[in-house]
Amino acid sequence: MLIAQLSDLHICERGRAAARVVETNMLAERALAHVAALNPQPDVVIVSGDVTENGRPGEYEMAAQLFRRYLTMPVYVVPGNHDRRDNFRAAFAHLPGVTADPDFVQYVVDDLPVRLVMLDSVVPEAGHGLLCAKRLAFLDQALSAAPHKPTMLVFHHPPMLTGAPDMDSIWLQNTTELGALLQKHPQVERILTGHHHRNIVGRLGHAIVIIAPAVAHQTDLCLLPDIEAQLVLEPSAYHLHLQSADGGIVTHTVYVERFPGPFPFVVDPDYPGYPTKPA
Ligand SMILES: [Fe+2]
Ligand SMILES: [Fe+2]
Repeated sequence: MLIAQLSDLHICERGRAAARVVETNMLAERALAHVAALNPQPDVVIVSGDVTENGRPGEYEMAAQLFRRYLTMPVYVVPGNHDRRDNFRAAFAHLPGVTADPDFVQYVVDDLPVRLVMLDSVVPEAGHGLLCAKRLAFLDQALSAAPHKPTMLVFHHPPMLTGAPDMDSIWLQNTTELGALLQKHPQVERILTGHHHRNIVGRLGHAIVIIAPAVAHQTDLCLLPDIEAQLVLEPSAYHLHLQSADGGIVTHTVYVERFPGPFPFVVDPDYPGYPTKPA
């Protein structure tokens, strides 16, 4: 099982740059082309929110067009704080699960060796996230239906503090409630999010939390209080979640652009890792 996770594409209308400097449409197209050229191909692609920059219909049109052009496998999407739920649902109604629930973009993907519970952590008109009582009830019910199958939750806002104060001010606000619920469901192995535009790993209870890097711009690393976060054009990246031969789930970070190489691992003759040669 191979799952590609793209996050925070921030797609704009044709010809527009995000935050005046980021050619997010170009970055999104390159990342999608990269996924399309992967060998082996991912079984599915998940998109963990902030598909668009402003949630405008024209932005979704562009996003849907790009997804259609490059992705032949099933695509599972959830919204982020830069999305508008109504426009998101209208544009992606053809994608599995998007309109399954009348109120939120929340659904379960059951046909992979690892179960995916896709959740909607958006609070309209706000940067932070929340899983309200209704959404937590959906999650509880979804997890209770398959207590023994390894499961990954996918939503936009990270449920953990990162030490970066500006990011932490817009996290998933009711992380404590989510943590309490997860205590009943030990099969939840991973929580996959985006939102912070940096690759960060932590934990909520027993579940490993992985924040994916952005396909668009990254957030400049800043662990100091009272400093506004700034964007930086560090390399565009995405994640590949792989079920390895021992049954575990591992996550690889994949950079979209090419770098010099590959070069062979040429080592010196006195490299200590050489097997001992017979005398
Ligand atoms: Fe974002
Ligand atoms: Fe976000």
